[in-house]
Order: sequence, then C-alpha cells, then structure tokens
Amino acid sequence: MKGLILSGGKGSRLYPITYTNAKQLVPVANKPVLFRVIEAIRDAGIHDIGVVVGIDDNARQIREAVGDGHQFGVAVTYIPQEAPLGLAHAVKISQEFLGDDRFVMFLGDNVIQGGISDLIRRFETSDWDSQVVLTPVDEPQHYGVAELDESGAIQKLVEKPRQPRSNLALVGIYMFSAPIFQAVNSISPSWRGELEITDAIQWLVDHGYRVQPHIHRGWWIDTGKPIDMLEANNRVLDEIEHHISGYVDRDSLVNGKVTVGKGAEIINSVIRGPAIIGEDTRIVNSYVGPFTSIYHDCVIEDSEIEHSIVLEHCRIVDIPVRIGDSLIGRNVTITRSPIKPKAHKLVLGDNSQVGIL
Ligand code: G1P
Repeated sequence: MKGLILSGGKGSRLYPITYTNAKQLVPVANKPVLFRVIEAIRDAGIHDIGVVVGIDDNARQIREAVGDGHQFGVAVTYIPQEAPLGLAHAVKISQEFLGDDRFVMFLGDNVIQGGISDLIRRFETSDWDSQVVLTPVDEPQHYGVAELDESGAIQKLVEKPRQPRSNLALVGIYMFSAPIFQAVNSISPSWRGELEITDAIQWLVDHGYRVQPHIHRGWWIDTGKPIDMLEANNRVLDEIEHHISGYVDRDSLVNGKVTVGKGAEIINSVIRGPAIIGEDTRIVNSYVGPFTSIYHDCVIEDSEIEHSIVLEHCRIVDIPVRIGDSLIGRNVTITRSPIKPKAHKLVLGDNSQVGIL
C-alpha cells in the first residue's frame, strides 16, 4: 500500500501563527502534527508516501522539514497542487504516483488516538474498495457526515449538511483502491467550488463498490483552530512518557508525567505534568503547569504558565500574572517594560488575539 498526505491549505483559522508557519508544522507536544501523521503511516507498515503540497511558501517549509523522508524511514514524493480545489482533486493529481496500489489518504493536520495500524491491516486483508473512518461529533454540520442503514452499511454521505441526519463525521482518514480514480473523474465541483472526497465516496457507493465504515471510539482532533491545537496538545501530552534528559536542579520540583529535552535546564522551578520542555530551553524561578508544551530554545523566567503551547525561541520573563490557554508563536518576547509611560506596549501581527486581565 501507499500513503497520501494532504498538506496544502493556508491554515487561516490559525492566523497569525500560520502567516509564517505551515499549519501542519505547528507542534503538538513538541512534534509537528505532520510528523505524527508520517509516523502513524510508517508504523502501519507503509513506506512510500506522497505529500500533496500547495505552491506557496508553506510548501517550501514542508519540503525543508520533511525532506526525502529518510529521517522517518520512509520515501516521500511531493505532489504540487496549484490551488486548493478539494480533497478529491488531490487524489486526481496523485494518480501517477499512486498507480494501481491501494492507498491510505490522511489529512496532514489531523491527530488520532491509537494510530492506524489496525485499520490498515483490516483493509489490506479485505476485498473492500474503500474504508472510511467515522466518529460521533457534537457539531456534524461542520464535517462530511455519513448515514448508515440498519445493517451498518453506508447509505449516504453529505459534505457539511445544514441538517445532518446523523452525528457520524468523516474523520480525515480514508482508504481506497483503484476505482476511486473513476469516481474523482466523474464528479463535479460542489457549491464551495471543490471536488469533494465525500462526493467521490458516494459515487463508489452508488456504483456498487464496497465502502466499509469503521467507527472510531478514541479521540480525534482536526487541528483547525487554536482551541483545537490546545485540545490536541492535552490529549497527546496525556500519553507521553516521563523522561528527563536535561538538567533539573535540587531546588526544583518535577511532578507527574514530564519530558525534559536534552540540554534543557530547570532551575528553582516547579513543573507539574503532563508537560514537555524542549531541548535547550531554560525554565528559571518559574511554574510550568499541566498541559503545557514549551518548544526548544525558549527562556521562561520569573513567570507562570499552564495549558499553553509555546513555539521555539520565545522569551517570557517577569510576567506577574499566570499565562494560560495560550498559543504563542516563534521568537515571541513577553516581558515587563520599565520604560514610562506605564502601559501595555504591544507589537502584534495581524489577527493576533490578546486577552488582558
Ligand atoms: C474535510 C472533508 C470532510 C471531513 C473533514 C475532516 O473537510 O471534506 O468531509 O469531515 O475534512 O477534518 P475540510 O477540512 O475540507 O472542511
């Protein structure tokens, strides 16, 4: 089998973080979501992976970060998509790479509990033409939605229905065999101008192909908005190992499941897990509370932070009020200014959001 990861898109719901960062490279528990997707596919025994990217700077970043895939033990082929014309369009332009192989398509900004090894094994040994992963959600109108009949077979799939007939959303993980190419070449663009994978799967159902649903019962997160990133971070941190590679001094207290990366230093501080501290980061006279990921080369000094994601090369120094529920981009400095007048002095990118006490 082959893998196909969709990694285009602007990530506009994560602005301003994604003005300069591809959304798939934003880390969850200090590892880019896209790396987690590649590892999940590799762990399922698939080594030949196509990555569909746009033709913008995000694509350059993704190529730079993932390279030819050898750091993950896979071979990566990049497939440029001129414009975001839909998931089925991405399949269409990947036909040459995929050939006649069965394949798994995985959205590069999705995180799923438990990986996909069992799903792949089941599909590989079956005669199904497709397997789709469904999960119950609270607001199905934002997703592709599946209706099943009494026997549990898929009857109908609708993309973002106004009045959903079930709460089963299509998770961004799909398995296909060759008939999907006929499907993507037969459908027309939807109201949002995209070739929808949901319509292509409906085409398979309508033409008598066997589409097998799998209902996923663990957690699944589509990391579209900052709150989803924090939620994904919580879930993944909950499952990390306790592992201290860096230095923790005698005046510090490390509680619960905490990972401290190589070269990191914890000085006179309290870290309450689950939390992860990246390589070469310094935490000095500070408190890092549960569900916090601090990436590499940061300094947190005389400050308190919890339930947050901090990207690389940030400095948070001498902040008297605890920082919480925050997503902080790269190279950000948050500090107190002694310069008069006494005021909040902010240099923020477009679409930033700041909540002040
Ligand atoms: C896409 C699919 C949708 C699916 C969702 C999962 O939606 O079209 O069927 O439920 O991914 O994340 P999009 O992210 O393009 O809105």
